[in-house]
Amino acid sequence: MCGIVGYCGTQDAQSVLLDGLKRLEYRGYDSSGLAVNTSAGLKTVRAVGKVSELLRALKTRRLAGSTGIAHTRWATHGMPTEANAHPHRDCTESVAVVHNGIIENHASLRARLEQSGHAFASETDTEVIAHLIEDALKDGAQLSHAVGAVLPMLEGTYGIVVASSLEPDTLVAARLGSPLILGIARDGYILASDASAILQHTRDIVYLDDREIVAITRAEYHIRTFENVTVQKPVETIDGEAADLQKHGYAHFMLKEMMEQPDVVLNSTRGRLDAENGTAVLGGLRDVEKQLRDIKRIVIVACGSAYYAGCVGEYMLEEYAGIPVEVELASEFRYRKPILDSGTAVVAISQSGETADTLFAVREAKEKGALTLGIVNVVGSSIARETHAGVYNHAGPEIGVASTKAFLSQVVVLSLFTLVLGRQRALSLVMGQRIVKELLALPHQIQVLLDCREPYRAAAELLADAHHALFLGRKYCHPIAHEGALKLKEISYIHAEGYAAGEMKHGPIALVEDGFPVVVIAPRDSVFEKSMSNLHEIRARGGSVILVTTEGAPYDASLVDRVITIPKTLEMLTPLLAVIPLQFLAYEAACARAFDPDMPRNLAKSVTVE
Ligand code: AGP
Repeated sequence: MCGIVGYCGTQDAQSVLLDGLKRLEYRGYDSSGLAVNTSAGLKTVRAVGKVSELLRALKTRRLAGSTGIAHTRWATHGMPTEANAHPHRDCTESVAVVHNGIIENHASLRARLEQSGHAFASETDTEVIAHLIEDALKDGAQLSHAVGAVLPMLEGTYGIVVASSLEPDTLVAARLGSPLILGIARDGYILASDASAILQHTRDIVYLDDREIVAITRAEYHIRTFENVTVQKPVETIDGEAADLQKHGYAHFMLKEMMEQPDVVLNSTRGRLDAENGTAVLGGLRDVEKQLRDIKRIVIVACGSAYYAGCVGEYMLEEYAGIPVEVELASEFRYRKPILDSGTAVVAISQSGETADTLFAVREAKEKGALTLGIVNVVGSSIARETHAGVYNHAGPEIGVASTKAFLSQVVVLSLFTLVLGRQRALSLVMGQRIVKELLALPHQIQVLLDCREPYRAAAELLADAHHALFLGRKYCHPIAHEGALKLKEISYIHAEGYAAGEMKHGPIALVEDGFPVVVIAPRDSVFEKSMSNLHEIRARGGSVILVTTEGAPYDASLVDRVITIPKTLEMLTPLLAVIPLQFLAYEAACARAFDPDMPRNLAKSVTVE
């Protein structure tokens, strides 16, 4: 979603704000802007497109001052235009607001404000906030109290930061449903929608919670609730080096993050594998270990790639822990009437830990008495803090919008979770030890796949000029078919569908014609022979086949146009190897089509609106 930065201190605000925007750009990038309290009042510069366009605009209009706010936008209301770019101002241009979220009742507020004489300059929901604050300041209120008076009028979600020329050394921020973090640096205070904008300046941060307002000046900050109760919050130190936010010579963050995957498996399993007892040790679940023994059912809630990781987890947990599992799209789960009770564990999988659909699903599950667990990558994120317990991925910051290393880590953590629950139940010591052994072999096996990328380029040639593609898989690789299709469509814009291979004859085979590309993920597993029949079906209708299979598997080479082989491992861990070539297929196809894999159109890294 959108990226927000605020700075109040002794440094040049424009430099700090732009540095933060560049690190947040992956969150949304159809326009950006900043406002700084200068000697000539509160000045704003905005631009359509990436942050580089804003930099270009600032070359002739530098803003000198030490207090300001900035924003990079993923449009929800109103086209990506300069007028719709944040910050948004009031009629007097003495108030500026940046906002992440959606104001659901903006239309009625706007109508009321226009009737009372306010003139709007944009189509956005956000602008109503600036005009409401303008009215609240009219009777001489302090900025912090004016903001506090406005918030109860807003319905929806927001993380906002407000600046005003009436109090040029103050910023006020508030949070309801969209993340907001306060960084405490030596030279001042930084507000941001996620830690990546702060890391360069400090690792000492305070996580704001919903219904909290913070007022900052150069010298101090003060946090209170919407109900005007002062709160003292702990200052936490976050790990994660600023270096993680650099490309280290790779062409794209996505490529860097794909190449990091052997280390990601090591980091996700470090200190967590107990080879002797054939199990895993997950400290984040220690407090709920007894409840885990008693649960009778698991519901996994997630979105996008995290959802497909959950689908792999369903096969693992049912086969090796013997627990019934359902995997639900978080955006659907919320609007059904899910049957949950204390015997159910709801597992929320989320890289960002801020996905609104998944966060609201967690809240719904808690209300219904379920045990809620998180599998989250971003430490201290909302889902991590609101679930009863959970497991961090330790995959490091994932900047590329298309999830790669985080997805891999989610499946690794699900295999550890399977070990814990399985060994609490009927999973044998021998089988547990076998799974641990195969997990320990994974980093090297993944490195082998990373070292040999020519087959991916050769296969991508069959996709780069296609308009449609099918990805087929069975059992553990059925979710991988969907994940591969998602990767391809979200960064190369080629329409792609993931399908259970057994479903081809029930409809999708009608799509196959001369040259129609089909990626068949068919490792040498318990359903390998069944998948070989798919090759015949596709070939008989002129389709092109890209086969992903295990080294040495006995497939008929006359039925295959391109083949990619993966090392042999346990069937339950095959998804962790099969997904690697599919990531590269999507990456190579996007590059061949001259698209930026890191910033695909219309997408944002963390979708913090419903
Ligand atoms: C995956 O490549 C996409 N970027 C997207 O589907 C993502 O997985 C989804 O939005 C969920 O995000 P989360 O893991 O941060 O909750």
